[in-house]
Amino acid sequence: MRVAMIGTGYVGLVSGTCFADFGHIVTCIDKDSPKIDALNEGRIPIYEPGLQDLVAKNVAEERLFFTTDPAEAIRNADAVFIAVGTPTRRGDGHADLSYVYAASEEIAQLIEGFTVVVTKSTVPVGTGDEVEAIIRKTNPDADFAVVSNPEFLREGAAINDFKRPDRVVVGTDSPKAVEVMQELYRPLYLNETPIIVTRRRTSELIKYAANAFLAVKITFINEIADLCEKVGANVQEVSRGIGLDNRIGSKFLHAGPGYGGSCFPKDTLALSKIAADAQSGLKIVDSVIEVNDARKKRMADKVIDFLGGDVSGKTIALLGLAFKPNTDDMREAPSIDIVRKLQSAGAKIRAFDPASMDEAAHVMDGVMFCDGPYHAIENADAIVIVTEWDQFRALDLDRVKSLVNAPKVVDLRNIYKTDYMEERGFEYTSVGRAY
Ligand code: UDX
Repeated sequence: MRVAMIGTGYVGLVSGTCFADFGHIVTCIDKDSPKIDALNEGRIPIYEPGLQDLVAKNVAEERLFFTTDPAEAIRNADAVFIAVGTPTRRGDGHADLSYVYAASEEIAQLIEGFTVVVTKSTVPVGTGDEVEAIIRKTNPDADFAVVSNPEFLREGAAINDFKRPDRVVVGTDSPKAVEVMQELYRPLYLNETPIIVTRRRTSELIKYAANAFLAVKITFINEIADLCEKVGANVQEVSRGIGLDNRIGSKFLHAGPGYGGSCFPKDTLALSKIAADAQSGLKIVDSVIEVNDARKKRMADKVIDFLGGDVSGKTIALLGLAFKPNTDDMREAPSIDIVRKLQSAGAKIRAFDPASMDEAAHVMDGVMFCDGPYHAIENADAIVIVTEWDQFRALDLDRVKSLVNAPKVVDLRNIYKTDYMEERGFEYTSVGRAY
């Protein structure tokens, strides 16, 4: 099959590369010519484990191409994917669909023969209808079907999530389009991955409902964590105790500083707007958004309280800045709120993150970015573990103690055990663990 992938952001690049690795001929298209030049020179604009090698392999084997010129790839394509950004629109919280619609017009002018147009970007319910209308209006003779095929890729695990998904969702009522989609995902089909074929609007809603549900799970356990602290319980044991019930499931029950990233905050907000517009309010999702926002801001208070209520003039070392490990992504990262609040309370911030410091420098001022964890903690009055990178899990604690001003640790990811840290002479606090 021949695939054109419009947009070389996170989703487009990972999906395009994985389709090429399945054996299809894929052309990734982007208007950003420095980015395309970089990709053609083998430089990958995002941090994603395994992606660089997979791109290099498929470029070398001539199945993966990068270009700024959409014409030829779209003309020859069996399927054109729209994987452009859908950021939150300023002012009203809706998803901004201008890139999706611009891509639709471009596609309409270029397609030849039967072409499946696939929305991979996360788009509000009904966007597929709009894309179809735009293509029909721009090119009344076009032979095409619009399909919704949402992605469920986690940053840091995206290649595995693409190649070994729990399910693939295909939303269309065109049998011809279903055939093309089945051929594209044939390697998964043979692996018995469930392929859910449904209507386009249902497929669009599945994506939002999945992300919102996961956000609910995280926010629920975060509130239970707060309760654990008050009543002398341990949230990790509560998670295990409830997660072993198959009806609940153990994943996404890790308490922490609140969810961030490019999907959950944006998609929960967009879903809330969709529901409000449809006059079918989603009170649970609305509460999750509110509780999570407040939580990220409250994490700095936890640090301030731990230091006796006053951090002015104190040095605080943050280990981890990205919204989660194995990514350089700083979007909606809890560290942003934490740094801002600690600074306004007068603290000096030193920080280290293995991947995200360049990104972090765009969103936080006055932070001393350090060369490694041990450099970051020098003379610190407290260490705050914000992101659970593996390299922070086995720090040399004697060395840590010899470098800090005071051996105090606020572990917002529960990567150490309370008694272990206390036995080693640390004053230690974490999330939702009274012991
Ligand atoms: C998410 C979805 O998992 C993916 O299916 C979707 O397509 C895009 O959004 P991603 O944002 O990359 O992926 O990260 P994910 O691993 O889901 O984590 C999101 C946030 O939730 C992070 O801030 C993470 O720290 C937090 N989280 C996750 C928790 O606090 N506790 C958990 O148990 C799980």
